Formats: sequence, structure tokens, C-alpha cells
Amino acid sequence: MSVIEVRELTKVFKIPKKEIGLTGAIKALFMPKYEQKTAVDRVNFQIDEGEVVGYIGVNGAGKSTTIKMLTGILVPTSGHARVLGRDPHKERVANAREIGVVFGQRTQLWWDLAFIESLNLVARIYQVPETRYKKLLDQFAEMLELKELFHVPIRNMSLGQKMRAELAATLIHEPRVVYLDEPTIGLDLIVKERIREFIKEQNQTKSTTVVLTTHDLGDIEELCKRVIIIDAGRLIYDGPIETIKQQFGKYREITFETIHSSERVTLPSGAETTHVEPRRLTVRFDRTLTTASQVAAALMNQIEVKDFSLSEPDLASIIKQIYNGALNREAA
Ligand SMILES: Nc1ncnc2c1ncn2[C@@H]1O[C@H](COP(=O)(O)OP(=O)(O)O)[C@@H](O)[C@H]1O
Ligand SMILES: [Mg+2]
Repeated sequence: MSVIEVRELTKVFKIPKKEIGLTGAIKALFMPKYEQKTAVDRVNFQIDEGEVVGYIGVNGAGKSTTIKMLTGILVPTSGHARVLGRDPHKERVANAREIGVVFGQRTQLWWDLAFIESLNLVARIYQVPETRYKKLLDQFAEMLELKELFHVPIRNMSLGQKMRAELAATLIHEPRVVYLDEPTIGLDLIVKERIREFIKEQNQTKSTTVVLTTHDLGDIEELCKRVIIIDAGRLIYDGPIETIKQQFGKYREITFETIHSSERVTLPSGAETTHVEPRRLTVRFDRTLTTASQVAAALMNQIEVKDFSLSEPDLASIIKQIYNGALNREAA
């Protein structure tokens, strides 16, 4: 069953244009001019019950704006969104009962209340039955290591503690659809791992549908089978993470610091220079055709190398390669 349905979804922000000087300011007061910013641009997708989908893109791609339209916080400029058969904005209250949302950069909990009091309030607002609440509280406390946090006010928590608290509060009413907007931003690996395990468990035991927004590929690889990539508001890929991994896991980059500058070097087949600067050279190679040591050896035969480093491809470079046709028609 399709739980989320998005058709030609578009959001255009109108931003008041600043004018220079006093006359400009006065003019702007009486005849404000606006700039239009298309944050989400005719996006289409469908998500089925129980899926965990990674909604990814670089900063400013339009991820949060999409989530805000799906939660009913923002109204689409055009196109439409349906969540569990409802218009999220028009039927906000009904929608809110069945969804949960976490925004990584800010808390939705009461700043000064002890965490357990916040939880009690949330449970009451959502009318979670008493016995169910007790049971969930025990489970969550164990999985997210919350016991020692119950009496701590949110404002005194570290970022990782806050995020664990936030997740528990968001899932205590057992929503059918959960949006997690950058839930692991700024967290260390141990906390990230705990949060990922928790999300995985909720999805597996309750068939919770999860939309996970991030620009961290690590989160995605562990949780999602499917990813939707957006860039500048447009959907540029919707498909298995596996395809992305095969396609881009193939490539590695080595950056060489050299003693002298050199423009022309001969490389083994499967390798090419992607970036040349004075005394610095970046080579991308296909791991199925050659190896890092072959590339390094070939280069060191031709120029004097001071240092070099190997890097994994990141999201921004993957997006650039998708534009350059790396996925061909498969993605469209
Ligand atoms: N309330 C707003 N008013 C004007 N522009 C906005 C607003 N919210 C977001 N934007 C712009 O829309 C674009 C997409 O933003 P956002 O959805 O937050 O991206 P992401 O979450 O992928 O980083 C950005 O260019 C951002 O500056
Ligand atoms: Mg965002």
C-alpha cells in the first residue's frame, strides 16, 4: 500500500527583495518587490508502507521543504501530497496523530521540563493508553539508554542526549509514518549507531514507514534500500541504493602533493586526472580496472611525490557524476 504519494510537488518561496539606500527602503515599503526561490520543483514519488527511504541531497537541495509539506507545516505552491490518503495541510490534526517528525537542528520538547515530564505530556496529548505507555517507556529506555536522562531538563542535555530524547518522544505514540530530518547531524559514531539500530528496530517490528533526510551517506547505507536524490529542488534519482553503490563504489580518488608542478602524466587505464593545481593533482580511478598502488606507482615514476591521500566519493561528487550521465537512463 502506498503511504506517501507526491505528485508534481512544488514550493516557491517569495523573498522580499532588499533595496539599497533610504529611497530604496521607502520604495520597498510601499511597493515591495519579491524574488522567487523554487525550493522544490515538480517532484514525484510514492512510498509504500514499511519502506525506509533515504531522501538525500546537498545543503539547500529542498529536503526540509519537502518534509515540511508532507507534515502539513507548509502548503505546496502547486502539485499535491497525500499521506495515508490525506492532504497533510488541510487535515493537519488527523495527519499529526499518525506521523512523527524529528528535525535534527532543533528540539520540539519543552526546554525546561525534566525529560520524563515532557514524555508524560506527549503521551497524554496523543492519548497513549497507560499500560502501553509504560511498556514502550521501558523498551525505549533500554534501547536508547534513557534511564539516567529522565530527570534531566532538555536544556541541560548534550546534542546526542537531546536527539535520543527527541526520538523517544516522537515515537511514543507509535506513528505509522516517521520523518527524520538530519537526525544524526553533529553526532558521534556511537550515538549514531544507537539511533540507527533504534530506527531499524521500529521499522522491523511495526512496519513503520521512515523517510530519512540526510547528507550523510553512512546513515543511508545502513538503513535504506531505496534512495531519492534531489538537487536544486529536482528529483534526479529514485532507485536502489545498491545501484549507487555499485556505480560509485567503483571509483576512488587519490590526491597527490608533488614537489614540482606537472600538467601531463601518463596513468594506467581506468585512471584519469580530475583536478590539476600547482603541485597538487587529483586522480580518479575505477577499482575494477586498476588499483591505488598501481596508480601511485605510475605517478611516482614520472614525478616526485611529497604526500598522497585516498578518499571515498562524497555525495556532492556523486551528484555531479549523475549529471554527467554516470547513471545513464537507468535513473530517469
Ligand atoms: N522559509 C523560507 N523562505 C525562503 N527561502 C527558503 C525558506 N526555506 C528554505 N528556503 C530556501 O529553499 C531552498 C531549499 O531549502 P531546504 O529545503 O531547507 O534545503 P535542505 O533541507 O535540502 O538543506 C534553499 O535555497 C533555502 O534557502
Ligand atoms: Mg534541511
